[in-house]
Amino acid sequence: MKKIIIAIDGYSSSGKSTMARELARRIGYIYVDSGAMYRAVTLFAIRNGMAADGKVDRDALVKHLDEVNVSFAPADADGMQHTLLNGIDVENEIRDMAVSSLVSPVAEIGEVRERLTRLQQELGSEKGIVMDGRDIGTAVFPDAEMKVFVDASPEERARRRLLEMEHKGLDVSYEEVLANIRERDHIDSTRKIAPLRKAPDAHVLNNDKMTPAQQMDWLLSLYHVVSNE
Ligand code: DC
Repeated sequence: MKKIIIAIDGYSSSGKSTMARELARRIGYIYVDSGAMYRAVTLFAIRNGMAADGKVDRDALVKHLDEVNVSFAPADADGMQHTLLNGIDVENEIRDMAVSSLVSPVAEIGEVRERLTRLQQELGSEKGIVMDGRDIGTAVFPDAEMKVFVDASPEERARRRLLEMEHKGLDVSYEEVLANIRERDHIDSTRKIAPLRKAPDAHVLNNDKMTPAQQMDWLLSLYHVVSNE
């Protein structure tokens, strides 16, 4: 079987990271969460006083972009990958609400996208990689052999996200979560550079009514077809 590149794009909270990580584990590929890279740059901006109160100091961040190094530590025993910012593990910090609420404006900055896109392309240069994000099949790897676009209704995604947040002991309402999801969908799909779009040759996976096991069967069948072509 030839080694390929697998690009998985989709809306926030569509479950794409979970399925991408599990797919990579099952087929012995590297997994890269490109959203984590945008989150790490956002954390750098917050820690250096370049982002606060919903606003990002674009010029300051661009000026200091050379000082931002994002890398990954090898997956640990449970298959979780850890994101490193300048060599330090920031996997927990990048999932905080402070980062989540500022990452969309950071991801709109052209220079940030250029730097991270280059890094993502380097990570995929030997193939044998599953990468998930918003623009992987359109901008990062337009020639990826297998492209998947994960689609699920905002209501279903809000329901899943709410369960996740309640699990973490966070007190939020369904309406708040749904409003946040709709806002992020809007920003991600209307930004000027590399907006979230289904690539013309991507296979759509609508997982509203699918169990994780059914999704994995779907992905593995497609992978077997594509990697044997
Ligand atoms: O998948 P996520 O929620 O961790 O992504 C965080 C943010 O990064 C999200 O607002 C969209 C942005 N992003 C992007 O613009 N391009 C990518 N390839 C991945 C994420």
